Amino acid sequence: MGYWKGNLFIISKPFNNWIRKTKLLENSLSKLSELLFEYLKKSLSTSEVPNHENFFKMIPEILSNCDKLNFQDQHEVNAYTYYHFLERYRKILNILAQLMENNLLPLRSNGIEVIDIGAGPSPTFFALNDFYKALKRFSKKNKFKGKIRIVSKIIKQLPKPKYHVIEKSSLFVNLTKNISQKYGLSNFELIKDDISNLNIENLRWDYDDETLNKYRSEYIEKENIESIFEIPKGKIEVKFRYNISIISNFLTNPSVLTIFEKELLSTIKSIRFGGVVIMIGGADDNYENLFRIFENKFLSIFKDKSFVREDNSVFKKEESIVEIQKINFSDQPSQIMREFYQKVWNFIEEDSGKDLSKYRNEKFPHLWDKNSIPTKTNSYRVRIYRKMPIKQ
Ligand SMILES: C[S@@+](CC[C@H](N)C(=O)[O-])C[C@H]1O[C@@H](n2cnc3c(N)ncnc32)[C@H](O)[C@@H]1O
Repeated sequence: MGYWKGNLFIISKPFNNWIRKTKLLENSLSKLSELLFEYLKKSLSTSEVPNHENFFKMIPEILSNCDKLNFQDQHEVNAYTYYHFLERYRKILNILAQLMENNLLPLRSNGIEVIDIGAGPSPTFFALNDFYKALKRFSKKNKFKGKIRIVSKIIKQLPKPKYHVIEKSSLFVNLTKNISQKYGLSNFELIKDDISNLNIENLRWDYDDETLNKYRSEYIEKENIESIFEIPKGKIEVKFRYNISIISNFLTNPSVLTIFEKELLSTIKSIRFGGVVIMIGGADDNYENLFRIFENKFLSIFKDKSFVREDNSVFKKEESIVEIQKINFSDQPSQIMREFYQKVWNFIEEDSGKDLSKYRNEKFPHLWDKNSIPTKTNSYRVRIYRKMPIKQ
């Protein structure tokens, strides 16, 4: 069943070249920055958010105290989206390209399913859609021979990824719905606003589908949903099983891992074979420590068969992906981002009618001056874990 996925890396290089040639990244960044600008402009001009200074005051908070914010304030949401959205979008595209290059990109003829925990403004949603859409377009434009021909046939038919979100801030959810609608995407679904008490297995049971009910008793007997659902192939869709789980800048301190232990475990258990958990965080030692705790707490546990369903699964840490990655500030996509920063900054300064130059903190000159390229390198940490069957 999975053999065709194993050949995707063959087209990774020509696919990346095609992306560069057609300027897909630049075009999507430009489109997204326009939509974000329109959104922020409208949001900042409405009477509910009258104080432009609050937006500027939020920038240093976003940079250094992010885990203390609860995003129930429109200025927090706006400032976070302004600063992080495009850069996170780009990061996810980069990670997907690396997954493809290393033969780890999840593919599924029915379309992949994704869960994003603490999604914020959901840059992942846009990146995933754009990446798989580009892959589809690329396959339609090229004739492939040999092994890759079978893969490309399937990619040509790929449905859009299904994207499930767990996000506490309704302001972020509204923002994502607004932007995604204008971007032409509708495959966004909030499954729960708070990760507290999330149990994916229960969600699956609550899914009231006639066919699912029919097979429910058999499921209980055999405790192996996969083999049951192979039977009515094509007729039934197993809900809340994921090919990708994204945990990006959500686990910011060890207490989150303890507080949400059973909830995180529930999402990890819902990954399909060949699926991946993508963990993203800062490059500092704090995250190194957090990732290690995460690994020890959740992933090694799968070696203990008695703990999970009897699916003989184990999570393998993928060393092939470079863990610490640097953000480039000087290429053309970065220029588009800096132009966006300055455009929003100028708008707020002009619209306020006040002198707000005191907020021009020298730590982030690229926000109001598109020609200023930050000299300090910025890095992030990414770790990929892939669910595999245990070899008997
Ligand atoms: C630092 S932001 C990360 C956003 C996004 N993943 C990214 O990488 O840019 C953390 C997000 O987690 C959300 N969050 C915090 N606690 C949560 C909870 N208990 N359940 C669901 N979402 C939560 C916040 O509202 C916020 O959007």
